[in-house]
Amino acid sequence: MLLLIPLLLLSVTSFAQELAPATCDVRLPSSFPPIPTLPDPFQLVNGTAVADATTWSCRRAEIRAMLEQYELGVKPPKASFFEASMSGNSITIRCGEDGKSISFTATIRSPSGGDTGPFPAIIALGGTFIPIPPGIALITYNNEQMAATNPGGEDLFFQLYSTQIGGLMGWAWGVSRILDALDILGPETTNIDPTRVGVTGCSRNGKGALVAGAFDDRIALTIPQEGGSGGPGCWRLAA
Ligand SMILES: *[C@@H]1O[C@H](CO)[C@@H](O)[C@H](O)[C@H]1NC(C)=O
Repeated sequence: MLLLIPLLLLSVTSFAQELAPATCDVRLPSSFPPIPTLPDPFQLVNGTAVADATTWSCRRAEIRAMLEQYELGVKPPKASFFEASMSGNSITIRCGEDGKSISFTATIRSPSGGDTGPFPAIIALGGTFIPIPPGIALITYNNEQMAATNPGGEDLFFQLYSTQIGGLMGWAWGVSRILDALDILGPETTNIDPTRVGVTGCSRNGKGALVAGAFDDRIALTIPQEGGSGGPGCWRLAA
């Protein structure tokens, strides 16, 4: 009994998972018949309307599956080897698979002012172009180092995973590893509240922010800025 109480408390306060398991069996159709209108986002691929939260989590799993299959490639889970450490305002993450490992950093800028934290935070791909409100920390992440937009970059992600996976998914995977580090190190080390983390980015990094938010349930707020087509914009309306 004595043991049970802290366990129950823990389960209430434990962090959300990277990806909640699908509440249904996701089966994508073998083909999509042409339709003159945009698809209804609140309808399962089998035609059932999304009328409650459980069916929405099923629809969300379908949308993720479609994005992975048709556009982005499948997001790898947390690397089997994973270490995070904090020095000054910098988090260093070392992780890897099959004897290969990579290392990258994320930099935390605490808000100025009287508050002492732990602070909510915005993770910004490639720096931020939106004003970060007072009281919110900024975490910057060099996603170009993870997967370069142009050839010749370091491509840390592709040192571990298949080049058949798209770079946007590589960026999202990196954001998830930062969230792992925030979870593992905890607010006592990072002064960041890992349950109140948002993500942003501008232009191609806006697409990256959208993908990061779509593929990590721990992200509380996704702010894609000017992400355009292939991001929040619709290809069908681009012509
Ligand atoms: C559609 O899929 C959902 C989720 O798998 C399922 O609950 C429902 O019964 C299906 N509806 C039809 C008409 O097959």
